[in-house]
Amino acid sequence: MSRKIWGGRFREETDALVDKFNASIGFDHRMFEQDIDGSMAHCRMLAARGIITEDEASQIVEALGEIKREMSRGELSMDPAHEDIHSLVEAALVDKIGAAGEKLHTGRSRNDQVALDVRLYVRDKIQRALELIRELQVSLVRVAEENLDVIMPGYTHLQRAQPVLLAHHLMAYFEMLERDKDRYQGGLARVNVMPLGSAALAGSTFDLDRDMVSGELGFDRVSRNSMDAVSDRDFVLDFLYNTAVLMMHLSRMSEELVIWSSQEFGFVVISDAFSTGSSIMPQKKNPDLPELIRGKTGRVYGHLMGLLTTMKGLPLSYNKDMQEDKEALFDTWDTVEICLEVMARLLPEVSFNGEHMREAAGRGFLTATDLADYLVRKGITFRKAHEIVGRMVVFAGEQGKELGDLSMDEMTGFSRQIEEDVFEWLDPEGCVKRRNIPGGTGPETVKKCLEQAKEELGL
Ligand code: ARG
Repeated sequence: MSRKIWGGRFREETDALVDKFNASIGFDHRMFEQDIDGSMAHCRMLAARGIITEDEASQIVEALGEIKREMSRGELSMDPAHEDIHSLVEAALVDKIGAAGEKLHTGRSRNDQVALDVRLYVRDKIQRALELIRELQVSLVRVAEENLDVIMPGYTHLQRAQPVLLAHHLMAYFEMLERDKDRYQGGLARVNVMPLGSAALAGSTFDLDRDMVSGELGFDRVSRNSMDAVSDRDFVLDFLYNTAVLMMHLSRMSEELVIWSSQEFGFVVISDAFSTGSSIMPQKKNPDLPELIRGKTGRVYGHLMGLLTTMKGLPLSYNKDMQEDKEALFDTWDTVEICLEVMARLLPEVSFNGEHMREAAGRGFLTATDLADYLVRKGITFRKAHEIVGRMVVFAGEQGKELGDLSMDEMTGFSRQIEEDVFEWLDPEGCVKRRNIPGGTGPETVKKCLEQAKEELGL
């Protein structure tokens, strides 16, 4: 049994069950790089302030470098006898260089150390998330461009509503992902605050150069209140919330792929390489990937609710409850990372049945709004026009016809304002083309959006 870093005031060995229950090494070993980088910066600062000697500092920094390499090669065992990654790294250091290693923790507590490590971890993952979102956006833009001429029904209430371009529909997700990036970037300013120097909760008696550590680790500034600094997990909650919203977007995209690939819709076919089968029904080809993305959204929401609940009753300052932040954070990251990767790879594997989508856009009176707009142009108020077209829809529906199938005589029976030029208002292509208003589904507008998106993505 290794000696505890806090063993001095204890007369008995810790019970094995307590070690097992208390330890976080089983999961926080993932932060070994952040832990070691933080320790190196702390160590250099201690030397710069004359708190340890330059010689001791260079021994420590060199040994920490070795430990980091060994850990990344998986050579140093993540010994469960050590409570957490902080104690483990320190033990490995003392193993290597003895007494000098025992000086590293001067002016520091695991409370400010863990706050630092988690901040470094979250900062890193935000950068990675931004890259992965960008890759998914690239995928979306490519697929939208390849299918620029595809017209489909746009829906509200999952009822056919108005014809839209598939590219416009896809680019709606591009916008959601833009906001996701924006949210992560906004969170970055709150993450990038350096807590070291707060020590356990009250600050340190040593004249630590906090700005030096902050600068070395690339932080924007140092924290202003030591008690807040060791108690604050808002930045983890920000990350969980931002990721929950991103997952919600991926889930909605997934839901559309699931329903579009059903036989009822028949809008898309997902490649064999990105589909799975059934153990009993030989004919089945299932959209497991988007279903899993949709499903995994639940656990990310759960982690957000879990940590909010963990934090809500905690008195200042550090409490062990806060160790519960890590599994939530790590699992959230693992989940969103693979979901982003899968979605970016999945989209190019989807082939769109453009003919079928166009056909669907031609059935279900999707041009009714345009017919009402037409009547307004002939001098009828919109409310009146709405009513006339409503009656025309019922009439056509009863005869199994679309609006465009009605004869001139039948139409003028509803309004004498209707003339031969009405027919160009009744085809889905026309509906789409008339909407080149900014933000609309018109082909010119959509092309401009795609160009702008490509420029933003540096394509
Ligand atoms: N493993 C702990 C955590 O994750 C590190 C801080 C422990 N500090 C303490 N005084 N027990 O929060």
